[in-house]
Amino acid sequence: MKAIFLVGGKGTRLRPLTAKIPKPMVPLMNKPLLVRNLERVVQYGVDEVILCTGYKSSMIESYFMKNKIDGLQIRFAFEDSPLGTGGAIKNAAQDLTEEFFVFNADILNRIDLRQMARFHKRMKADVTIAVTSVEDPSSYGVIEQKNGYALRFKEKPRLSEITSHFINAGVYLFKPEVLPFIEDGRPVSLEREVFPRLLAEGKKIAVYENNSYWLDIGNPRAYLQAHKDILDGKYLLPKENYVKNSLYQEGNSTVPLSSIREPVYLGQNVHISLKAIVGPYACIGDDCIIDAGCVVQYSLLWNKVHIKKDEKISGAIITPDCRLFDLQDVFVRDFDVQEPDKSVTLLTQVL
Ligand code: GDD
Ligand code: MG
Repeated sequence: MKAIFLVGGKGTRLRPLTAKIPKPMVPLMNKPLLVRNLERVVQYGVDEVILCTGYKSSMIESYFMKNKIDGLQIRFAFEDSPLGTGGAIKNAAQDLTEEFFVFNADILNRIDLRQMARFHKRMKADVTIAVTSVEDPSSYGVIEQKNGYALRFKEKPRLSEITSHFINAGVYLFKPEVLPFIEDGRPVSLEREVFPRLLAEGKKIAVYENNSYWLDIGNPRAYLQAHKDILDGKYLLPKENYVKNSLYQEGNSTVPLSSIREPVYLGQNVHISLKAIVGPYACIGDDCIIDAGCVVQYSLLWNKVHIKKDEKISGAIITPDCRLFDLQDVFVRDFDVQEPDKSVTLLTQVL
């Protein structure tokens, strides 16, 4: 089975994390998010993917030149200028003659693709869209449905326009026969143009309801949430299993166990001073150093970060290039973490 991954977006809402690296390549427990998602689809029998690249495409291409994924052939469809979600599919799918999956690259989900494919067949659909239910649909694409078929779409609705809590989950199954309905050579939005057009042309768009884990890693809070959910065992990574109250350690690190407050994830070659506290909920990348007197909790450190003497880090994402603070509200519902002042916007330092 073939699949298309939309990986060309600019990741604007995840800036400054995406200033130097495209959103699909941000690390998720130390491996690119895209790798995590590709490893997952392989488990459902996908053996060939086309990555629709644009923003910082060379980073994605060079990564997969060096790193292969077992059982998966990877091709690239590059866009000189962004073709939009619909245009990207048209550009990539030219030679596809059988049904294919399409995935937004920035989501984590546990959608059962085999069940979805069976549903698609049973509904005799031209396109099937996986939907999930969210409390606040305003940042997503709302779908009104009846008897399992889509009736109307409203992308990023205002409060008064919210007519359903079912939203497009960014996972689709396409019949190649719908491709002629996507115009060539200009940016086309799948959500705003292609889907409404297909309905107007009498095509069947089935809606596959999914109540399992789903998260759009579109902003720093969601990105930190993803790490928390993995440590809590709410989202299981295909090849690893991180469960709450554990210390996960890759390779050789100098870690005094008395410093650790589980759950904690440690990459390779991490040095933690005897007099530091790390955790709970700390994900520490490779080659990080945490000095004496430091506290690092409810936070994520990318590779090669040095937290210097007596620094207290909580609810933060720290990379060698930037620091994002005030993210502790990701944890407040579950834990006794001081709630941030909501009037203060995310504090960001670009180093
Ligand atoms: N190749 C290519 N070209 N990819 C693109 C382009 C483009 O011009 N524009 C966006 N993408 C990719 C992004 O990289 C991402 O993987 C995916 O398309 C979706 O883009 P986002 O920018 O993350 O969209 P969104 O989160 O605001 O909304 C979309 O996803 C929601 C679910 O997460 C929509 O599909 C919504 O309807 C949906 O609810
Ligand atoms: Mg998104």
